[in-house]
Order: sequence, then structure tokens, then C-alpha cells
Amino acid sequence: MALAAARARTLRALSLPRPPARVPVPARSCCSQAGARGALPPGEYRAWRERAARDPAGFWADAARGWLRWDSPFHTAWQPCAPAGSARWFLGGRLNVSVNCLDQHVEKSPNRVALIWERDEPGTAVHVTYRELLDLTCRLANTLKKYGIQKGDRVAIYMSVSPLSVAAMLACARIGAVHNVVFAGFSAESLAGRIMDSGCKAVITYNQGVRGGRTTELKATVDEAVKNCPSIRHVFVAQRTDNKVQMGDRDISLEEEMTKADSICTPESMDSEDMLFMLYTSGSTGKPKGIIHTQAGYLLYAAFTHKYVFDYQQGDIFGCVADIGWITGHSYVVYGPLCNGATSVLFESTPVYPDPGRYWEVVQRLKINQFYGAPTAIRLLLNYGEEWVKKYDRSSLKVLGSVGEPINKEAWQWFYEVVGEGRCALVDTWWQTETGGICIAPRPSEEKAEIIPAMAMRPFFGIVPVLMDENGEVIEGNDVSGALCIAQPWPGMARTIHGDHQRFIDSYFKAFPGYYFTGDSAYRSQKGYYQITGRMDDIINISGHRLGTAEIEDAMADHPDVPETAVVGYPHKIKGEGAFAFIVLKEQTPRVDHIKEELKTIVASKIAKYAVPDHILVVKRLPKTRSGKIMRRLLRKVVTEQSSNMGDVTTLDDPSVVKEIMDAYQKYKEKSSS
Ligand code: PRX
Repeated sequence: MALAAARARTLRALSLPRPPARVPVPARSCCSQAGARGALPPGEYRAWRERAARDPAGFWADAARGWLRWDSPFHTAWQPCAPAGSARWFLGGRLNVSVNCLDQHVEKSPNRVALIWERDEPGTAVHVTYRELLDLTCRLANTLKKYGIQKGDRVAIYMSVSPLSVAAMLACARIGAVHNVVFAGFSAESLAGRIMDSGCKAVITYNQGVRGGRTTELKATVDEAVKNCPSIRHVFVAQRTDNKVQMGDRDISLEEEMTKADSICTPESMDSEDMLFMLYTSGSTGKPKGIIHTQAGYLLYAAFTHKYVFDYQQGDIFGCVADIGWITGHSYVVYGPLCNGATSVLFESTPVYPDPGRYWEVVQRLKINQFYGAPTAIRLLLNYGEEWVKKYDRSSLKVLGSVGEPINKEAWQWFYEVVGEGRCALVDTWWQTETGGICIAPRPSEEKAEIIPAMAMRPFFGIVPVLMDENGEVIEGNDVSGALCIAQPWPGMARTIHGDHQRFIDSYFKAFPGYYFTGDSAYRSQKGYYQITGRMDDIINISGHRLGTAEIEDAMADHPDVPETAVVGYPHKIKGEGAFAFIVLKEQTPRVDHIKEELKTIVASKIAKYAVPDHILVVKRLPKTRSGKIMRRLLRKVVTEQSSNMGDVTTLDDPSVVKEIMDAYQKYKEKSSS
């Protein structure tokens, strides 16, 4: 009953009054898209790649003219800027991202399906056409405007994935506001931190979220967060469930306002380099950083990679199961697919709800052609056995994609052989929040070109990877490893960190001046293919979610009985990596187990549940250098069980600490396995 009622509500929310037949769009300019998609003939990948490396200005200028609809043309394709290695793109050009994602498709095919919302409740998918999505977007945009949101204002979106949350992103783009999507699994404190750092004026949220058959209290979390956020003037609340929530002075019912709002909203004409969105991601030190992406370069790069990495063809159903709270959701659920006029699936559920066949049942029912997901889910599913996959018809699948973390060979083989029946291209895609889109992936390449398991392999058009040694020299030749940098700017690269340009320079351009430093290490094979070998800093990757170990340590520092902590990543069978915390107690106490539980609660409430350490080990002291710096490298060796190869320990204040910690770890392991 409750399910049926919730569904009826959602459908009501989505069937707001129909849009008029004509929607205002800016006039096409001389460099609009008419006929120009053929400007780069398909199939000539090698020639394209060579040209993109040799003549990036010409290559990307052609692409931008052909791919995007401009209000006024750009006069300069790109201009290198400080710090060396970065650039600004499509200078002088003006456009609106929502027009590119919606209006241009509504003109030609208003009834084409833009989104298929695969709701948590199985079998209740909602289809939204381009025309309906434009209608939702315009009404939402007009609602934001009515409450004073203007060009340049920041708006936080704290919602689960749905047509309304996509419309919220596009509504911001339509009026030139900057969205700041915060993953709806983050705690009130994390949300508050992101709101305060970015100075958001409003939050858009749902009363509740629904995932895996359970509800989460999104509005209550927002209430908690905004208590301490004076910049917030309004909280727009949409209904995901029938549950009533307490509405306060600054709360506004989103659907009510949207029903009253005009369904036409004139798009703001934006400069190519105006901000489109900010998205917070973890660094190796300090608080999460608000990565800034701008309009034209980001959109072009997301759309271009979506088309060519996945070989997206008109009419295909594109299924990226990421949440919009991460960059994968921004680029490959929303902007890339919609700019290309694709049908994009919004997956609200989990891979195991109501059973481990969910993904493949959805593939069969929605006839998904490209399926893009995270290795952590694949590792989880392979434990349940092949029958959950084979039960369903996967003949629609053409391309499989993996993202966010290294995919191990076993998971790759299972994904390729069992899910893809050995006939789909499997692309292991490497990229980052900062790169805006996929940078290294086996496709595009010549049709039938080899794909090596668990390897990202080939740089995308215009991406020039280099490997660096510890002296900052470029490593030439093949069969070599080093720090992965990118030698030439590309349109999708981040432009800065909100409010801290110096941190941007220090994080990405200081280690190897003139190059973008990714923070990852990589191996270049004998054939010249790239394989990502891991992070070079204190960032760990839990179930594909990036997290600085310093963030967990900072959270635990709040506990009055725990003066010191050190967190490192350790290999986890399903999650890829998990957090292992070493803690020092103020004094000996019989409350050790309680303290550990309290620490877990603190981390969940200050960051998110996924950040909670799996293991907490009490030690007498941490390994420190004479200057007092914690040597996490040694702790990593302990938890990865490589203690026989500790490397140089001469800088330790007291080398006997190593044995002490190894013994404590051994005892802990014996105790946990007994
Ligand atoms: O370490 C790399 C890892 O994820 C980091 C980027 O995380 P984030 O900004 O959250 O973006 C994730 C989604 C694009 C990278 O620095 N990573 C991402 N993709 C891969 C990967 N590691 C290995 N193989 C990949 N395919």
C-alpha cells in the first residue's frame, strides 16, 4: 500500500502541467551544431588522437563547434594560464548548459526518453521525456528565482538520485547558479562544512531518501546541518515518500511551488569560463576541497568521452549506476548523456536489493546497452554466484565500464565473461573529480583492438600522460613506473579549488612544475599501455569513495580519551580498501571496547558511515620521526603484512616501536580470527 501510494505521489510530482509546444531557445549562431557532428569522422581514432596531441587548439575548437550549441562563438580555443600546465577554454564564447542538455533535443525529439528512473522499489521505473525534463527544470529554475537565487549564487543539493535531483542541477545551470551536490549519505556535519565553505544560499532536499528498502531522514539531516549555516535562506523540500516532515520558517514545499511556477524560463547566457558547479572531494590533508568546473570545457569533455569511450549510439539506453553525489554521476548520469541526447538510467537502489540479481534484472527490463559501475559492486556480486546473472537476458549489453578504483583481475574476468558473455567491450576507465571526465580507457580505439584485463590502457584524445621519477624527470620508454602526470591541458580539467587557489596550485602543479599531477602512480607496459598502480598520498578508496585518512583522524581526535590516532588503508576483499586505525589511549582503561564503539559513532556522524574504520587497534605509541611526524608508511606495511620489508627506519625516534606495533597487530589478528 505504502509503496503504491509513494509511487502515485512521485508520478504526480512528475506529471506537472505539460509544457507549451514552443520553448525559448537562443538563436543558433554560425558555429552551432548543425551538421557539424560529422566534422570529426568516426572510425579515424588514430588520426584524431594524433591531431588532438599535435594541435589541441584546432582539435578541441572543431569539437566544441560541432558538439555544443553556442549563443555566441568563442574567439580563442584555449589559452594557457598560471599555474603552468593549466588553461582556460573557449574564450569569449557564451552558451547555456541546460539548453545543450535539453532544449536542443526538445526541438527535434520532444518525446524521446531522457531519463529512466529505476526507483528503489523494483518494477516501478518512471520514464521522463526530454520535454518533461525541460518542463521540470524550468519550473524548478523559476522557483529558485522567485526566492532570490541568482546567477553566481551557490545552491546545495542533498538528494538521492531522481529526475527531480537532475532537474535541480539543470535548473541551477539554467539560471547561472552554481550547484554543490552533496552525496546524500554524508552526515549533517559534512553537509554543513560543505555549505559553509561554499556559502550556499539554499538547499534542495527530499523529505526522506529510499535505498535498499530503507528510508533515510534527509530533511532532518539538513535541519541539523543548517542550524549552523547562516548563509542558508531557504530549504526547498520535495517529497520522495508520503511521510510528513516538520516544516520550519525557511522551508518551502518544492512541488507546491513548481506546480504554480511558469514552465518557461529564459536561459542565462553564460561565459564559457563561468562556474558550472563545485563538488567537494577529499585531499590528502585538510578539509575536503571544493573542486570547480566551468561551463563549456566541462560539458564538451563529458559529452565527448561519453560518446566515444562507450560508443554511445542514438537510441541506446545508457546505464551508469553511480549516484549524482559523485563526479561519475555528474558526468555520466547527467551532463554527458543529456548533452548527447541519450536516454540515461537513474539507479536509486543497491546491487543486492531485493536480491543480488537486481542489476541484471534491470538490464533485462530496461534493455540497457552500456552498463557502467564500480568494481566494489562486482566483487560483492561475484560472491553470490553466476546464477543471479544468468537468470536474466543480457543480450542488450554492448559495453561494460568500470570506474573509481582499481579492478582486480578476478572481478574483471567475472564482469567480462559472466556478465558480458565474453562479447562486450569492458572498459576500465581511469579519471578523477578533478579531470571532469575519463582520461585513460581502452576505448576509443580501433574496432576490435585488444583490451587487456584490469588495465585502463589508452589515453583519451588530447590526454598526454607522462610518468615522472622522484627527481621530477620525465621517464621515457616502456615497461616503466612512475608518478602519473598529464602534460597538456584538456577542456574538462578543474579550474581551481573554491576559495583556495593556492591549494589548487600546491596540490596539482607544484610537485612537477608545468604538469598536472594526479596523485596516482602508474605503470607503462611494454606496449605503451597504462595501468594505474595506486595513490601516492594519504588518500584511500573505500568502495570507490575517496577519503583522506587525515579526515578520519581529525574526526577521531574529538574523543577526549584518545590523544593520538593514525589511519591507513588496508586491502579489503569487497570494498577494495578499508580503514585501519591505530590509536593511543590517554590512560589504561577497561573501557577499550566502548571507546572503539564511540570512535566509530563519531566518524559516522562527522563524515559518513562508509568512513568508519573496520579495525581499531590500541597501541602504546605511534611510530614517529625525531621531528614528531607519524610514519604511516610503516603502519601500512604492518597492515598489508609486509613487515619483513620495512625499508629505511633510521629516521625513527625509537626503532623499537616497530616491533611493538607488529606484536600488537599479531595479537589483534589472532584474537579476531579465534
Ligand atoms: O586513485 C584513483 C582512483 O580514484 C581516484 C579519483 O577518485 P574520485 O575523484 O573520487 O573519482 C572517482 C571517479 C572517477 C583516482 O585518483 N581511480 C579512479 N578510477 C580508477 C582509479 N584507480 C584505478 N583504476 C581506475 N579505473
